[in-house]
Amino acid sequence: MCGIVAYVGHRDACPLVIKGLKRLEYRGYDSAGIALMNDSGLAVYKKKGKVSALEQELAGKAVQSHIGMGHTRWATHGEPNDVNAHPHYSFHRKLAIIHNGIIENYAAIKQRLLDKGHTFASQTDTEVLGQFIEDIWENAGGTLEEAVRLALQEVVGAYAIVVMNEAEPTQLIAARKGSPLVIGVGEDEYFLASDATPIVEYTKEVIYLNDYEIAVIKDGNLRVVTLDNTITTPYVQRVELELEAIEKGGYDHFMLKEIFEQPRSIADSMRGRVQAEAGLLQLGGLRDYMDKLAKSKRIVIVGCGTSWHAGLVAEYIFEELARIPVEVEYASEFRYRNPIIKEGDIVIAISQSGETADTLAAIELAKSKGAIIFGVCNVVGSSIARATHAGAYTHAGPEIGVASTKAFTAQVTVLTLMALAAAQRKGTISDSLFRQLLVELESIPAKVEKVLQSANKIKEIAYIFTYARNFIYLGRGLNFPVALEGALKLKEISYIHAEGYPAAEMKHGPIALIDEDMPVVVNATKDSSYEKVVSNIQEVKARKGRVIAITTEGDTLLPGMVDFTIEIPNVHEMLMPLVSVIPLQLLAYDIAVMRGRNVDQPRNLAKSVTVE
Ligand code: F6R
Repeated sequence: MCGIVAYVGHRDACPLVIKGLKRLEYRGYDSAGIALMNDSGLAVYKKKGKVSALEQELAGKAVQSHIGMGHTRWATHGEPNDVNAHPHYSFHRKLAIIHNGIIENYAAIKQRLLDKGHTFASQTDTEVLGQFIEDIWENAGGTLEEAVRLALQEVVGAYAIVVMNEAEPTQLIAARKGSPLVIGVGEDEYFLASDATPIVEYTKEVIYLNDYEIAVIKDGNLRVVTLDNTITTPYVQRVELELEAIEKGGYDHFMLKEIFEQPRSIADSMRGRVQAEAGLLQLGGLRDYMDKLAKSKRIVIVGCGTSWHAGLVAEYIFEELARIPVEVEYASEFRYRNPIIKEGDIVIAISQSGETADTLAAIELAKSKGAIIFGVCNVVGSSIARATHAGAYTHAGPEIGVASTKAFTAQVTVLTLMALAAAQRKGTISDSLFRQLLVELESIPAKVEKVLQSANKIKEIAYIFTYARNFIYLGRGLNFPVALEGALKLKEISYIHAEGYPAAEMKHGPIALIDEDMPVVVNATKDSSYEKVVSNIQEVKARKGRVIAITTEGDTLLPGMVDFTIEIPNVHEMLMPLVSVIPLQLLAYDIAVMRGRNVDQPRNLAKSVTVE
């Protein structure tokens, strides 16, 4: 949510920052801006729209600079327009600021500044913070660094900021609390960004700034201090991220690339953890906590959106295999309802980005109540990964399409491994079922590959339903969360209204919606609820609904009963979501493309939701 890129060093900052902003555009894309130091001083350019609009604005201008900072915005305060775009510039001390996050007490600070005669051009909380820093700097004297520190001591909310000023043309000041900020350390050059993707092209050495830390880069040197002015020693680490992983690699969209990457990403999420032949399963990051997990009386899973759906799948698997009661909570609800957490409870936080504000807050709350927190995150070094006691990374590789696909299957894979490990430790799974599931898990990438071969057939079905106005998705058991996920994928990228339901729940209300114009996607794979789902399909057909069924290979009944079938290979019921979700991802993708939607950057959304 909002992307930040900054650079100081020997390179030309403008093209570097623009390229970096394009890499971060998945975080927000309603306006963009850049601040550079040219011959006449600090210059700010900003434009409503995508980074390409800013690029056009800069064309032909003298923008050479060895220092610069840019921002791509996801609006929180004030509509997307040129004025509300960042950077925000304060005239007295000629400083510019970019910000990702929300300043919650901005209204009170603004009133103080208005009373002192300040005026504001924009409706943003960021401009208020910029002028607040400037006001302290003017009145308290001292350095800009001190003013930033004093201002941030008064700020309530979340921020990652970068500040530049005209009087100190080789200086960048950055700070974070709650929103991510990575520093890239090159040879005589430094990079700042919301994640490592704009940096890895130039250096793999990075520092993840911690909450309440301020980084001051000046005259080629980096110094990190805390908000109470204690100097800290930054931990430089190597980031394992290859450039190819963040490029489209010949696909039309990142989302399509990420759907097709799933055979590999699912395998990567098991790599080094599963040795099916030997019947071995190990999760290094949880080794010391496995006993606590197996002995826990209750597991609470928190997450948002697709990650919450992965949690719902895990609920079935943990309860079935490890016989541990599981509750799955929206992080945003959990954090505000004084949840009951008892000694020994395990909280599993699921997050692709590792930065989701609600999930992070849910972790902090559960921690304060004595829970043991496990993370299932994709982004290494992310805030959530660091806030947990232990965890298992999903290793799906960077997910750039805003709609989550490969992260979901990687989360489900890792959660399945956790459930299996707990069940084995607890003795609630037979040795033969344990081994069978490991073997079946290893076969999942090939089965997903097989589903991907149906891409053309799915495209033909998508074409027929491109103009539908509503969709219903149905499934039972482990296929119920998959129905929710299918509906979410469709609505977020195609803007078609879609609802997911447990198939049997349909007759308690949604059945009233069914007529010949209502497409109903049913996950009707051969599992323990197959017969029941077939009955639900008949209820839809009796009301002239048009059924697209996801069926198991060799099913001879459903093709004669429904309008369209998409066959998937047979897998153990516990692992079915990993395969049955794939056709739903493709269906949503194709319909969105055929409707001319911006699949990778759907309206109003952002990849990493760092505001509540
Ligand atoms: C949907 C989607 C979102 C995210 C949600 C949580 O396709 O991507 O619903 O799943 O915002 O994000 P993370 O997993 O990063 O915490």
